[in-house]
Amino acid sequence: LARGVTEPDLEGRHVVVSAGGTREPLDPVRFLGNRSSGKQGYALARTAAARGARVTLIAANAALPDPAGVDVVRVGTAVELREAVLAATADADAVVMAAAVADFRPAAYATGKIKKKDDREPEPITLVRNPDILAEISGDRVRAGQVIVGFAAETDDVLANGRAKLKRKGCDLLVVNEVGERKTFGSEENEAVVLGADGSETPIAHGPKEALAETVWDLVAERLG
Ligand code: CTP
Ligand code: CA
Repeated sequence: LARGVTEPDLEGRHVVVSAGGTREPLDPVRFLGNRSSGKQGYALARTAAARGARVTLIAANAALPDPAGVDVVRVGTAVELREAVLAATADADAVVMAAAVADFRPAAYATGKIKKKDDREPEPITLVRNPDILAEISGDRVRAGQVIVGFAAETDDVLANGRAKLKRKGCDLLVVNEVGERKTFGSEENEAVVLGADGSETPIAHGPKEALAETVWDLVAERLG
């Protein structure tokens, strides 16, 4: 659905968006990270603000300027992201987890730079699990009627994987992207499908991140009533 004029349909609402990708430090100069740019989360924050919402954007390592009229909280690690999301979610009407959260972090942090030793093979890196923020906020809803949205990139049986993940996380909506060699840039094919806990399936055609963001807020606004 094309939106000619932006309607303030999120006025009076507080929405929380996470964006970017967490970095899990190994030592003062190194981290485990991912390639998330933060652009989709920032597009979600901008479009929600344009639709009248009060927006808290929790940005993990995104090299992007703060969007106008949005409260930005900057974080580094998954544990910091969790703290910021839980704090902001207490009075939120909707939460969209667009951030790429590291599933694991190094078990130990070396306070001094890890040095290579000429005569020895490197030490293996032991990982521990990070908290699952989306599952946590979906499991104990702090506010009745709160709408919670997750994002997932899947390969192979994309819809079946997406359905299983939606159920496992307990969120209301899951935006599923197909990734893999068959999906090329500039493809005219549908690039995402939004799965609803109510059984709904909303395909989103390949297009700008703003267009995907608008569709996500349409679906959220419907559920907020
Ligand atoms: N997510 C989260 N906390 C984590 C991992 C993921 O809140 N520790 C959120 C992401 O922000 C995203 C959704 O969960 O909105 C799905 O992330 P994804 O990595 O696809 O889910 P996982 O359960 O980690 O599954 P997988 O094994 O496929 O990585
Ligand atoms: Ca993951």
